[in-house]
Amino acid sequence: MKITFYGHSCFLIELNNKKLITDPFISDNPLAKKIDVDKIKTDYVLISHGHKDHIADALQIAKNNNATVISNFEIINWLSKKGVKRTFSMNIGGKHIFDFGTLTFLYASHSSILPDGTYGGNPTGFLIESQENNFYFAGDTGLNYDMKLIGEYKNINFAFLPIGGTYTMDTDDAIIASGFIKCNKIIGMHYNTFSLINIDKKSAIEKFKQYGKELILMNIGETVKF
Ligand code: NI
Ligand code: MN
Repeated sequence: MKITFYGHSCFLIELNNKKLITDPFISDNPLAKKIDVDKIKTDYVLISHGHKDHIADALQIAKNNNATVISNFEIINWLSKKGVKRTFSMNIGGKHIFDFGTLTFLYASHSSILPDGTYGGNPTGFLIESQENNFYFAGDTGLNYDMKLIGEYKNINFAFLPIGGTYTMDTDDAIIASGFIKCNKIIGMHYNTFSLINIDKKSAIEKFKQYGKELILMNIGETVKF
């Protein structure tokens, strides 16, 4: 399985010969200027919540690819009205088997409103279980005890956790979260896009190491095999 980072919380995940993109925020991300949104190829678009820094390019990418958008009911409604044809709505606790694997919608402690002020439903995270890997994409969230359920009942190989602070967990909380989910391989997201979520990458990686954990901070445009 391959993962390409497009900045902020946007990753292209290649799994079971299918492509999934998470929380596309590329054209308005000053750090992702070199990425051409129209060149992105994907089968699915996964959206964790309605904030602009997670949905800005969803419509364009979904239309370009005739991709299926998976998100909560409110966000799917909003995108359908804007012309997205293929959609699948889910909600927290719900599970569905797709051709890439089994996706479960999970709780995220955050908020969710769409860019035009429309109610965006509840914010979410995702758990994906597949033949290749099991992983958790936390979305925007604070540290919460629900994460312990993942650690107790699931075996995950790696997890995408926000680490930028201010609006989500910071690196210290992400280290605690990685204990809750019983996973020592963390891909950091939601950091350094704007000044309020700036982190020092070197010291963040070092901190994880002190706890025997690995923090992977990908470069924008970089692809890593898992
Ligand atoms: Ni958010
Ligand atoms: Mn965000």
